[in-house]
Amino acid sequence: MFRYRCCFFLLLVVKTCYTKEMTDIKALQSLPTRCTYEYAYDMYGAHCAGLRLTKIPSLKGGIEILDFSDNKLKEVHADTLSYYTSIKYLYLSENQIYSIDKDAFSYLTYLQTLDLSNNVILQLSETIFHLPSLRKLYLNGNPLSQGSLSSMEISKPIRAPLDLLDLSDCKLEVMPDLGILPQMTFYNISHNPLKSLDAQSFSGMCKLAKVDLTESINQIKLCDMKLSVMWFQEKGIYFQLGDYTKLNSREYENCPRIDIPQNLNATFNQCRMEYTEVQTVKTSRRTWMTIGGGLAGFLVGFVLLLYIMHRHNVAQTKRTTKEVKKVPPSDDKNATAILLNDVS
Ligand SMILES: *[C@@H]1O[C@H](CO)[C@@H](O)[C@H](O)[C@H]1NC(C)=O
Ligand SMILES: *[C@@H]1O[C@H](CO)[C@@H](O)[C@H](O)[C@H]1NC(C)=O
Repeated sequence: MFRYRCCFFLLLVVKTCYTKEMTDIKALQSLPTRCTYEYAYDMYGAHCAGLRLTKIPSLKGGIEILDFSDNKLKEVHADTLSYYTSIKYLYLSENQIYSIDKDAFSYLTYLQTLDLSNNVILQLSETIFHLPSLRKLYLNGNPLSQGSLSSMEISKPIRAPLDLLDLSDCKLEVMPDLGILPQMTFYNISHNPLKSLDAQSFSGMCKLAKVDLTESINQIKLCDMKLSVMWFQEKGIYFQLGDYTKLNSREYENCPRIDIPQNLNATFNQCRMEYTEVQTVKTSRRTWMTIGGGLAGFLVGFVLLLYIMHRHNVAQTKRTTKEVKKVPPSDDKNATAILLNDVS
């Protein structure tokens, strides 16, 4: 009896184990293992997120969006993406990227958004800041400590038309020197152990609307921040701190009086000029494109008209020949000949 019960118990264990394994396998199988393609926002995109891939598989050409987030990519070589030159939005967040070749993105001249957040990037090449179409750059959650970004010699002016830069949670002690960025509107530099807050780094961002400094200024002496805070207030930049009580303290109030120095104003004015220039170029390009588009449309219409007229003429000529053929035959012999001709 006991033996039977034991056997039954064993069977039960085996059965439960087996079922559990089955469901696990099934769950694994139901996860997609290959990239899928879809249209989103009128663009063709490849969706490869969360597939535990160690490299980017061969994808269809012409994709404009590539979501390769949450995978196991470690290195981005010069030829990793060189084939996909039409990419505009590239998401590589949450991989294990530690190395990026100097020319890894150089072929992506249409790239507008680059998300490299939450990787293990230590060293960054300055080429990234010169991508001609890049507007949004996410580098947050990378250990870009002293080593690379802050001490990096970025040649200026930066060519990328950046309007968003996320450097939050990058272990930065010093803010990078980015020079003039006339289109920058949002700068996230929160959650970094900053040792100083240099107002000069903000003065070249004349369209800045918001800067996030949450958890980044705890190590900076209150009075050393005064110029930056004054600058934000003067230019109407919304600065997020998490905790504003320090700025309402007596200590802050008693900080020595300072004036906004000339060099900040000069950088700011330079930025404003460059912004106007960019806008002018944009407007004139738009105008030319409208004119060009109108002209092209007119030409296409004209050619179409010519073609229709040509077809019409041809049809008319044919009809006249047919009518000539249809002329009633004078005798029966001719009629048979025409009939035979028609059959052949
Ligand atoms: C800035 O980055 C932090 C950390 O990545 C994030 O939690 C926060 O929402 C960002 N700030 C804004 C205003 O988006
Ligand atoms: C810089 O500009 C601010 C206001 O725009 C002004 O109050 C300040 O005096 C200027 N500084 C110098 C040195 O011109």
